[in-house]
Amino acid sequence: MTGTWVVTGGAGYIGGHVVTALRREGIGVVVLDDLSTGRAERLPLDVPLVLGRVGDPQALRSVLAGATGVVHLAALTSAPESVRDPLAYYAANVTDTAMLLSAMAEAGVPRIVTSSSAAVYGCAPAGALTEQDQPRPQNPYGTTKWIAERLLAEVGAASGTASVALRFFNVVGAATPALADTRTSAVLPRLLDAAQGGTVTVHGLTHPTPDGSAVRDFVHVRDVAEAHVAAVRRLTCGGSGSAVYNVGTGWGCSVLELIDVVERVTGQPVRWIPGNVRPGDPARSVADPSLIARELGWRARFDLAEAVRSAWAARVPAAPAALTRRSLLPAAAG
Ligand SMILES: NC(=O)c1ccc[n+]([C@@H]2O[C@H](COP(=O)([O-])OP(=O)(O)OC[C@H]3O[C@@H](n4cnc5c(N)ncnc54)[C@H](O)[C@@H]3O)[C@@H](O)[C@H]2O)c1
Repeated sequence: MTGTWVVTGGAGYIGGHVVTALRREGIGVVVLDDLSTGRAERLPLDVPLVLGRVGDPQALRSVLAGATGVVHLAALTSAPESVRDPLAYYAANVTDTAMLLSAMAEAGVPRIVTSSSAAVYGCAPAGALTEQDQPRPQNPYGTTKWIAERLLAEVGAASGTASVALRFFNVVGAATPALADTRTSAVLPRLLDAAQGGTVTVHGLTHPTPDGSAVRDFVHVRDVAEAHVAAVRRLTCGGSGSAVYNVGTGWGCSVLELIDVVERVTGQPVRWIPGNVRPGDPARSVADPSLIARELGWRARFDLAEAVRSAWAARVPAAPAALTRRSLLPAAAG
């Protein structure tokens, strides 16, 4: 596969893994990231990093010129924060996506893989979620991800832009310490903090689940990165239209069960206290990943214990980098 793919949000937690996986396939990559939550150190030194916002037409023009396609990961990502500041989420996740699609049309870039989320489903039934289930997002974050999917489908129908939207479930783990998840709000990093001597609040023990805590589908970030490779491959080989796929393991694990796994893997006790259910937090969210297996040949390879082990191993203090990135490329005028 040849050509250069623009990865927005490539300096983020998932983005860093996606960049690594694409390059392993021989795919050229240029990253557009404003480093609002990302870190330049996640990127190999020879990956061009354009420092800019997805909503900035000049930055978009400079990265899209001559590109083969786009992997769009840049977004605001916290459901609780979206409840407090919905306008920021609509601006970043909907308006900026519309600007990206418009700039792609202008530059003649005809394909995009975008990151959606299990949050589009909202409250889930007892079984696994399929792409046929009606989305019922419970917070502005989930709503903005769903609108972005619709935007892709409707713009694609009008313009011929081909798209794959990947609905990631709960992404965990790390390929290397440099790529670790540094978000302070994500559940596994908080449990690992507790294993290192802190205390974690478990939000909600009154869910209608076997142990009362929320059930999630935890998928290794390396598997998520490989799902992007499969989607890029599909679009590069002439895939058309707008597809939506779940990216999960199909296996549900409650937060209390996850605490057990963390204690086993780390050999440390996890101190936790009960907290209230957070508004918009579904009791259960588990993927049926059979569609992506059938159509893209992707399935999760790593189990949860391996994902937790990798995240724990990534916590070893990193040695100081021998080399540093010489410069960040500013968005070229034009
Ligand atoms: N982590 C998960 O469990 C999970 C689950 C479902 C979906 N997602 C989606 O995956 C994507 C990546 O999430 P992540 O966990 O890696 O988060 P992250 O915060 O680590 O990565 C987001 C990256 O985008 C950059 N960014 C944010 N807004 C930008 C903008 N306007 N212009 C340019 N760059 C911008 C940030 O600097 C960061 O590098 C997001 O779209 C998120 O909604 C994540």
